[in-house]
This record gives sequence, structure tokens and C-alpha cells, in this order.
Amino acid sequence: MTAVVKTPASSANLGPGFDVLGLALTLYDTISLVPGRAGLTLTVSGEGRGKLDRSPEGNLAVRAVKAVYAEIGAEPPAIDIHMDNAIPLSRGLGSSAAAIVGALTAASAFSGADLNRDRLFALAVELEGHADNVAAAVYGGLTISFKQGDTFNVRRSLPAANIGVALLLPEAGLSTAKARAALPEETPRANAVFNIGRTALLVEALLSGDLDCLAAAVEDALHQPWRRGLIPDYNVTEYACYQAGARGVALSGAGPSLIAFYDKKDETAFKAALAKEVESAGIQRLAIWPDIDVDGAVVATCLEARPKTPWAGQN
Ligand code: HSE
Repeated sequence: MTAVVKTPASSANLGPGFDVLGLALTLYDTISLVPGRAGLTLTVSGEGRGKLDRSPEGNLAVRAVKAVYAEIGAEPPAIDIHMDNAIPLSRGLGSSAAAIVGALTAASAFSGADLNRDRLFALAVELEGHADNVAAAVYGGLTISFKQGDTFNVRRSLPAANIGVALLLPEAGLSTAKARAALPEETPRANAVFNIGRTALLVEALLSGDLDCLAAAVEDALHQPWRRGLIPDYNVTEYACYQAGARGVALSGAGPSLIAFYDKKDETAFKAALAKEVESAGIQRLAIWPDIDVDGAVVATCLEARPKTPWAGQN
């Protein structure tokens, strides 16, 4: 048996929807599980190669594979895990959620556990700690995660077709732990009310495609004001996006990438204007232009192992 899974990147929060909103994007990590010789081994290519913790205790994908076997009450067999990553790490693009969700989905197929998406999502939240990126990685589209009792649930929908997304990635990353540590524990009621209104407006605007209220809808009083100080080129990049015609700009997840929403019908003009603004302001960021992923993590291949024929020899 071989299982190969493609898992999308995601942008969480989208401004006011802290730890709640997620948007899946067409930038993918691919993980494959093949029968190994001994224990769980891990190799990495692409983003994170030579940087990711590959220890069984520290690597999220390995822990996710073990979690699936724990779920079915079995010991993991020998498996060679390979991660081929296109999602840059520590940029606020959901790379750890993609690693977890990809490994859970692959292990579910590989083991025959065949866990449904809701169960995979629950296991992913346990491993990740918050639900926004993992919801988008599991279900695709625009996700709203919410807790009922001890259980997280998700409402998934698709933004209107005129919603375009640009991401502006800096070269240096920012750890989510550091970006979370910068936030106050308590929030004044006025800030909570501010965010409730903005989050409701944002979801309505994304679903209806009403771009006129997006700039107001992405405002936030829960996390962005504290994170600005950690990201030296935040203000100048946000300004450049708006100057170029962006309709709403927010931190992507915990940052440091920014997400800019624009009108798809103005895509060519916006791309040109943004390139010009970025260059003239001397901003050292890479702009990428993903679409919205609609499927979430997908098992791309699930093959039975080739029969062990006596003439093929041992390897
Ligand atoms: N909602 C999370 C945060 C996303 O803003 O810290 C980061 O993974």
C-alpha cells in the first residue's frame, strides 16, 4: 500500500476572525507513505528541507501518523514518510496544519482506518492546538470553526468568484508561538464588539462578493495591533497594497505574510500596480497569486503494494 496526499496552504484569521476563519489556498504540500523496513522514517524535500525537526517526538507529521494508529488501537508498522513541501514555513500560511492534516489523511488511507473528515479534523485540532488552519486544510474553501462543549465544528463555504487573493511573503519567517506570546490575555469589551461586527461583515462580504466593505471588514482589534510591532515592513506593505488597488489587506494567520483581497476582474491592472508599488517602496517581499482551494486534503494515490514475486529478488 502507498498513500499520497496533497494538502492546501491556508490563511487564517483574515483580519478579525482570530482563531476562527480559515481560507484554503492552491499551494500544496504532498506527503507519501510507503511500507518501510523499520519504524517510522521521515525525509523532506522542498520547503523545510534541512530545517524541519525530523525526530519522532518533534515532527508533527510523524506524530499525526502515530495518532491515527492510536485511534485504531494498533502499533504503526514500518513506514517511510516523505514530505515534499511547497508551503513555506513560519510565514502564516498554515504549513504545520498542512503537515498534520496531510499525515493524518495519508495514515488513515494507508492503515485502512478510513477515518471521516470530521474525525481527521478533531485529531488535527488536538495536534495543532487551534482550529482555523486545520479546518481549511481538511475541508477547503472558507471555514468558520467554532467550539461546542469540548468539540470543534466547522461551517465551510465558498467565497464569491470575484474575490482574488494575493499573498506577500517576506524572506524571514515569524514563529507562531512568538506572535501569540505578543498578545494580551484579556480583551476589553469594546474590542470584542469591534471584532464581532467586522467578522460578521467579512464573511458576508466574501460570500456575496461585495468588495466595497472589505477594507472595513478586515480591521481587527484582537491581534494585528500587537503583531505590527513584530513585523518591520507590515505598514509599508499594507500601504503599498491599498495604493495598488487592494480592497482589503490583513495579516495572513500570525504573519508575517500579508493577504490582500482584490477584484478578479481587475487582476491584470492590480498585479502590475502592486509590482510597481512594491518596487518603488523597496519592499523585499514575494507576491504570489493562489486561487482558493475548494477540496481540502485529497488522497491523490492509494495503491496496493506490488505483489512480491519470487523472481524480483529482495530489496
Ligand atoms: N489563529 C492563529 C494565530 C493562526 O493568529 O495565532 C496561526 O496559526
